[in-house]
Amino acid sequence: MRIDILTLFPEMFDGVLGTSILGRAQSAGLLTVQAWNIRDFAFDKHRTVDDVPYGGGAGMVLKPDVVTACLEHVKAVNPGKVVYLTPQGSVFDQVKAESLAQEASLILLCGHYEGIDQRIRDGWVDEEISIGDYVLTGGELPAMVVIDAVARLIPGVLGDEASAREDSFVNGLLEYPHYTRPAEFRGRQVPPVLLSGNHEMIRKWRLKEALRLTLKRRPDLIERRLLSDEERQLLREVLKEECNEGR
Ligand SMILES: C[S@@+](CC[C@H](N)C(=O)[O-])C[C@H]1O[C@@H](n2cnc3c(N)ncnc32)[C@H](O)[C@@H]1O
Repeated sequence: MRIDILTLFPEMFDGVLGTSILGRAQSAGLLTVQAWNIRDFAFDKHRTVDDVPYGGGAGMVLKPDVVTACLEHVKAVNPGKVVYLTPQGSVFDQVKAESLAQEASLILLCGHYEGIDQRIRDGWVDEEISIGDYVLTGGELPAMVVIDAVARLIPGVLGDEASAREDSFVNGLLEYPHYTRPAEFRGRQVPPVLLSGNHEMIRKWRLKEALRLTLKRRPDLIERRLLSDEERQLLREVLKEECNEGR
């Protein structure tokens, strides 16, 4: 997959993209990411990228002519969808990450200051994505979030694809708790079933704990879920246990 980023601060991406799984994905040729500096496409000697808003008010707006010059240049090498990161976009989630991971290429446009001129949004942008209901100073961190969530879904990027299938949200539940050695740590024991070697019991325990955690923290996910017979039964047990504990 190829991802091009349009930003005023390409250097912000160096650490994140060069490290760990994203770094290895690029070395392995599974992912190509290039950050373009919008300022390189400015027309004047001061390399101006922003201007005051028409109608007055606070802040600066990224200029449509400069952003267009940058977009035209990038589109020549990447015909992909243009995604503008903005708090006004649809909120990013695992389903959206999965659908973006199907694309062969993407262009991520990062705003700054008050954002970009509306005509860029009207004329160029295919999709607008927010990473949550809060306002950041720029689209760089949101772009990194999107790249990370999408890249780990590209086949071959994670060493163990099976582990990604069990991640929170992937199957509509929060994931069960994890433990590693030692079996006892400062008086706290690993649940005995995990030491039993019985794969069927372990699977059931994990599903039950995933249901317990999701019910506690994200009951909306349970409400939306088409429960299997086994899940309904396990959920009944969870509710009974939680009730008994509350007494
Ligand atoms: C200070 S914000 C502009 C906010 C804009 N004036 C508004 O009220 O919607 C500057 C830039 O940061 C990015 N940004 C800020 N918060 C974001 C979020 N929650 N999700 C995605 N991008 C965000 C966008 O690219 C935006 O253009």
